[in-house]
Amino acid sequence: MRIAIATAAILVMSGCASEVSVSNLRCEYLVNPLGIDAVKPRISWVIESEHRGWKQGAYRVLVASSAADLRADIGDLWDSGKVASDQTAQVEYQGKTLDSRVQCWWKVQVWDRDGRASKWSEPAAWSMGLLNRADWQAHWISDGVNRQAAATQSESNKSKPSKCLDLPSAYMRKEFKVNKAVRRATVYVTALGLYELYINGVRVGDEYFTPGWTQYDKRANYQTYDVTAMLEYGQGNALGAIMGAGWYVLRHAGEKVELLVQLEIDYKDGTKEVIVSDGSWKATNDGPILSSNIFDGEHYDAGKEMAGWSRYGYDDSNWKPVELSKGTEGTLTAHAGVPIRRIMNIRPVKVTEPNNGVYVFDMGQNFAGWARIRVKGPPGTKVTIRYAERVSKDGLLDTKNLGSARCTDSYILNGQGLEEWEPRFTSRGFQYVELTGYPGKPGLDDVTGVVVHSDLPVAGLFECSNEMLNKLWRNIVWSQRSNYFDVPMDCPQRNERMGWTGDAQIFIRTGCYNMDSAAFYTNWLRTLNDMQTADGAYPDFAPLIDLVGTAGWADAAVICPLTIYQMYGDKRLLERYYYNMVKWIEYQQGKSKNYLRPEQCWPGDWLNVRANTPKDLITNAYFAYSTRLMAEIADVLGKEADAKKFRELFENIKEAFNKAYIEPDGKIKGNTQTDYLMALSFALVDGDRRAQAQKHLIECIEERGWRLSTGFLGVKLLLPTLTDIGRDDVAYKLLLNDTYPSWGYPVKSGAATIWEAWEARNKDGTWNAASMNHYAYGSVGEWMFSTMAGIDTDGPGFSRIIIRPRPCREITFVRAGYVSVHGKIETYWQYRDGRFKLDVTIPANTTATVYVPAKDAGSVMESGRNAAQVEGLKLVKKQSNAVVYEIGSGRYSFVSNF
Ligand code: BGC
Repeated sequence: MRIAIATAAILVMSGCASEVSVSNLRCEYLVNPLGIDAVKPRISWVIESEHRGWKQGAYRVLVASSAADLRADIGDLWDSGKVASDQTAQVEYQGKTLDSRVQCWWKVQVWDRDGRASKWSEPAAWSMGLLNRADWQAHWISDGVNRQAAATQSESNKSKPSKCLDLPSAYMRKEFKVNKAVRRATVYVTALGLYELYINGVRVGDEYFTPGWTQYDKRANYQTYDVTAMLEYGQGNALGAIMGAGWYVLRHAGEKVELLVQLEIDYKDGTKEVIVSDGSWKATNDGPILSSNIFDGEHYDAGKEMAGWSRYGYDDSNWKPVELSKGTEGTLTAHAGVPIRRIMNIRPVKVTEPNNGVYVFDMGQNFAGWARIRVKGPPGTKVTIRYAERVSKDGLLDTKNLGSARCTDSYILNGQGLEEWEPRFTSRGFQYVELTGYPGKPGLDDVTGVVVHSDLPVAGLFECSNEMLNKLWRNIVWSQRSNYFDVPMDCPQRNERMGWTGDAQIFIRTGCYNMDSAAFYTNWLRTLNDMQTADGAYPDFAPLIDLVGTAGWADAAVICPLTIYQMYGDKRLLERYYYNMVKWIEYQQGKSKNYLRPEQCWPGDWLNVRANTPKDLITNAYFAYSTRLMAEIADVLGKEADAKKFRELFENIKEAFNKAYIEPDGKIKGNTQTDYLMALSFALVDGDRRAQAQKHLIECIEERGWRLSTGFLGVKLLLPTLTDIGRDDVAYKLLLNDTYPSWGYPVKSGAATIWEAWEARNKDGTWNAASMNHYAYGSVGEWMFSTMAGIDTDGPGFSRIIIRPRPCREITFVRAGYVSVHGKIETYWQYRDGRFKLDVTIPANTTATVYVPAKDAGSVMESGRNAAQVEGLKLVKKQSNAVVYEIGSGRYSFVSNF
């Protein structure tokens, strides 16, 4: 996991001794992205200042088409001029039209409120991709092998892969000459299937599972790489590609793996040459990757390696010419998210030999990726590598929960000394690795775990005095890592691994607190909207389409863009998909009679604990909820008439909902925790009935011995609703519980990730079929940040912040940090020496409302002084258990009696 590299530049304020640093210049959330296709990209920067209350009064952005122009302060593409504004994020490019391939160098200068200017920031850059289909001169090519023809039909459920494929990977190559000095070389690549690109024997980029997962008949994403330094001037050069079956063949029934490559070389003399995929390329299937399949694994014969195959001069006389293929008629768009990368290595903690020659490595952590092995032995020796999330009592792998996914790799040695190998087109969630056929006895150093996932920048850190909660939070992060795999997936191990929309909406806010998820969701939301049906329904998972219009799942199309707006201040997704979302509401209206939809939400409150919330009630609660959110969205976009219309519709649904499901005494049909949570949290119950419903919610919890019974839909609402109704005490009781069912129970049972079900074991101690790595129940993470640590946004994008920790006596301290679009927000509260201490960091150019827990306002001190006398602390109000201040940026240290 890499933290976005800050282009930290220390800018000394002229005429002012204070130091201000402008860091983290980003474009479309990314650091120096190449080949973007946003024609009005949005840029952002972060200001750091030790000074309290620092506010930006103005900015100036220069965007130049060359680094030299930018150095000379010439913004030939855009000179914003001095703009009086405190905006530092979502600043939209307003310059000359950006055509395909344009290179943009940019920098920013800021002024404080007193007009003192900073120096220019360090430069940052972005480049434009190929914006028009006509920019592509390349042809789709394939090795001609029909991979479906050789597939074995195994299952038919759309959410499970329907094929088992044991087909070799394709290798493709092409030679060319570079006879002039190169100024810049850029390669644009996409594929149907997965590709790895090579130039002159060196892998291009460090990304995996490219080009990513989309609905390929509607859209394929491409990547852009700067390969200037990889070309050999005056020499023969070669392009090579290895292709894996990927999602395209397995999930989308794609017949052939197909490649599209366009290498554009700009020479120093001003001329240009384009090398493309076309009929002049050659291909073979007779390489070392005998077969590769995301779910089943990869099989490699090192004896078949083709030394130098992607270098100039390789003898490819036994390779066949490629076939020109049809490719996709879908749009080709720049990948807008973050790449999947190898993130870190993990060393095993233990190796055992439960059966003769069967070695089982415990990696000590459940994660997604693969194992790298090290081995020495005679040529032809085959080492088989199997993976599982757990072992049974006899110490052997328990693969019950993998479904039909074989999760098996193998490596055949070439016998040339110490060999190291890892797969590339397959991944799975696992904690245990089994080696068989290993020559000799492997040691701990012979297996390395490689953690692979979408490389989202870390945003959140959480720590408190309770070890169980610390482990819970780390488990949430590990489940997020394992399942943020180009799309938000449900699980990384079994033959499912789908972009379930319900799970995505449940977890998105937690996901944003943990990692900067804006680009990741921007990318996936394109796919989700690609999948909307003509009549407005959204699917239960995306890509692919099977069931549509399911409440709580399809609503991700409204909830996710709105959450991205709330967390990052990003209006663009709301604008882009507004009419799609409107259609979704209209679809539901079309299905409804007298404002109620008759359909059942088929999964219901998925994986609840014997608490079946009526499925039609769920459908209507979400119908109302999404309608209410649409009113909010219409407000944000200034569409007053629409907002009014959605509010009216919401009121009508609410009235019908009350009539259909709520008794005069506030009892809701089904009488489950999730019933009350939805009614309360979606604002479906008012007045006396609301008070009654709150009471019934607590009764439903008490009835279960102060335990939860919620499934995926209810669990997200549980603690936030308890806080909203003033019952933090019950929220903490549930959170701190470690008996089944609770968040603590899996932790106590040794879980290293969030389990799919509240219990993953049968009564006899054997494991059941649940996934051990499924983030949905981890949606409690948002409460840990927003309420335990007290870091929340006040309006969109954290430019106004709420600091409102809710302490609990059983916990002596909580320390958390969240890197917002404006910089890092930190809180650290503790009970110490009989007093309550709260340290707060607020980033420059933002303000915060701080609720300092206190029994009496007079007791509040800040940095050793009576708070009432501290300049810059504006007392807003005194509450019975907190004093509320308005503060500007900076570090604050409060002490109170509490
Ligand atoms: C998936 C869930 C999904 C559910 C819907 C399960 O198989 O793992 O994540 O939301 O199906 O019913």
